[in-house]
Amino acid sequence: MSAEQDVKLHDFGNIFRLDGKVAVVTGGSRGLGLNVASGYLQAGCAKVYITSRKAKACEEAVKALNALPNIKGKAYSIPADASKVSEIERLVAEVQKTTDHVDILFANAGATWGSSFEKTTESSFAKVMDLNVKSVFYTAQKFAPLLQKVAKLGDPARIIITASVAGLGVGSLGETATFSYSASKAAAISLAKNLAVDLGPKGIITNAIAPGWYPTKMANGLLDMQGGVAEVAKDVPNRRLGEPEDIAGLVVFLSSRASKHLNGVCIATDGGAILAKGKL
Ligand SMILES: NC(=O)c1ccc[n+]([C@@H]2O[C@H](COP(=O)([O-])OP(=O)(O)OC[C@H]3O[C@@H](n4cnc5c(N)ncnc54)[C@H](OP(=O)(O)O)[C@@H]3O)[C@@H](O)[C@H]2O)c1
Repeated sequence: MSAEQDVKLHDFGNIFRLDGKVAVVTGGSRGLGLNVASGYLQAGCAKVYITSRKAKACEEAVKALNALPNIKGKAYSIPADASKVSEIERLVAEVQKTTDHVDILFANAGATWGSSFEKTTESSFAKVMDLNVKSVFYTAQKFAPLLQKVAKLGDPARIIITASVAGLGVGSLGETATFSYSASKAAAISLAKNLAVDLGPKGIITNAIAPGWYPTKMANGLLDMQGGVAEVAKDVPNRRLGEPEDIAGLVVFLSSRASKHLNGVCIATDGGAILAKGKL
């Protein structure tokens, strides 16, 4: 190839844009999911469906999203309990009332549980596994037909799974240990790899993200127990915790043309915290 051909990248100025795309965000009513839903609309998505259990929270989130300035797309609220397969099926049926396809599935809903090794109960373990593992698989399975409608090898549909750095290394230990959460997030990363290989040839690529600390409703209690944001940030190599733009930027990238050759990877978004954990 000539140098001239090598520098002529195709439409590079728009490589991160998501104009006209249809996205579904589970756990979209607050926290990381809501940050990403906002990023999706601002990157040009035409339709963004957000879902979580609480109808009022979903409606308030959608109201805030639709009030964003300079967006062309629209957010939709469809409350559903993602831990139940019957509810995921109902969610898909509801989504289908206003779209015949989905370009991007952000499987993000998750829950955690903190208790000591001795006090960790069967019901808490099952609750975390149901939402963080089983629901991720069945959300992918039930949305696959809608993703398949637009899936192309050169322009793939996307599944992005929210795992955690707890699934790459070790989560909290002691009185508020997160054995089920860590195991569930390791399983979520494994699901991303298996889905990547199985669905890749069908034009659907799957990747995972592994956030470190982001101050959200889920994280704030644990952050307080560890001395608060400023104290925890001291152990992070870039001396900060994650912010809304950090998660939205990464997931928009993973949903865009810029990442179409990534499949089955897990990207940590933690300022390098997991690397520093191992230091002497
Ligand atoms: N924040 C962090 O530091 C951090 C770090 C690593 C990984 N993560 C992961 O990031 C994801 C989002 O967490 P977050 O920090 O944004 O927490 P969050 O603010 O507590 O948000 C959790 C979201 O999930 C929804 N949800 C919970 N149970 C659900 C269910 N059964 N069905 C459907 N939706 C459900 C919640 O809404 P409802 O209550 O209305 O259902 C909410 O929208 C999770 O997978 C979490 O494990 C977070």
